[in-house]
Amino acid sequence: MVDEILNVENLNTRYGSIRAIRRVGLTVKAGEIVCLIGPNGAGKTTLLATVAGLLNPVLGRVVFNAKDITGWSPDRVLRSGLSLVPEHRRIFGNFTVRENLLVGGVTQSPEHRENLLDEMLTLFPVLKEKLSTPAGYLSGGEAQQLAIGRALMSNPNMLLMDEPSLGLAPVLVDVVFDLILKLRDTGRTLLVVEQNAQRILDVADRAYVMRSGKIVVEGAASELAGREDLFDTYLGGSGVAA
Ligand SMILES: Nc1ncnc2c1ncn2[C@@H]1O[C@H](COP(=O)(O)OP(=O)(O)O)[C@@H](O)[C@H]1O
Ligand SMILES: [Mg+2]
Repeated sequence: MVDEILNVENLNTRYGSIRAIRRVGLTVKAGEIVCLIGPNGAGKTTLLATVAGLLNPVLGRVVFNAKDITGWSPDRVLRSGLSLVPEHRRIFGNFTVRENLLVGGVTQSPEHRENLLDEMLTLFPVLKEKLSTPAGYLSGGEAQQLAIGRALMSNPNMLLMDEPSLGLAPVLVDVVFDLILKLRDTGRTLLVVEQNAQRILDVADRAYVMRSGKIVVEGAASELAGREDLFDTYLGGSGVAA
């Protein structure tokens, strides 16, 4: 129990009459990279948004660090050490890179915020030269690094990442995957939604496959990576989910 940092139990979230996720259960242990894969519309974003407090479940529980955080506001979830890198990045285009990063650090003391900012510029050197640039002018890869940096500015124990490599050129996809490993090495726990199933299975410890709002398969990532049937049945055949 002690080493389970996140425990999702029987989670159900609706949009009106649409049951987007149904009876979802998953666990993440401290220090793990766990990935969540599955076709478009499976409910992956809904699950992360519910865990992060952006949506309220109709049923079920989210336990983080042995605390029941179900129904907590996004701000309170963030302060408890769980941070979301949202789908499509959602950075503030009119704010500078520096301002975007500082917004991510609102939960921190001013002094700690400056230290974290320095840390982010070491982690993402590309952002250093663009500190005064409005984020709307960044390339896709830079914007994704900013989105991850902003989430890290709250100094979280655990990061939820929603499609971090989506829309990036191959070389930048490599940057994102290198970063995922680097974050694990610094002691962060990661739950990552990825459409590039083969790549994420290569770096993850364990994986869950979702379809139509439910978890349909779970297991060691190395084992799932070798299962052709999985790709044919759930992930569109190519190793990259549709
Ligand atoms: N804001 C919304 N309002 C109504 N239905 C939604 C909304 N967002 C997602 N859905 C529906 O919920 C289901 C799960 O969507 P989503 O969680 O975005 O899936 P994924 O991230 O796996 O592509 C889909 O059927 C989708 O159409
Ligand atoms: Mg999604």
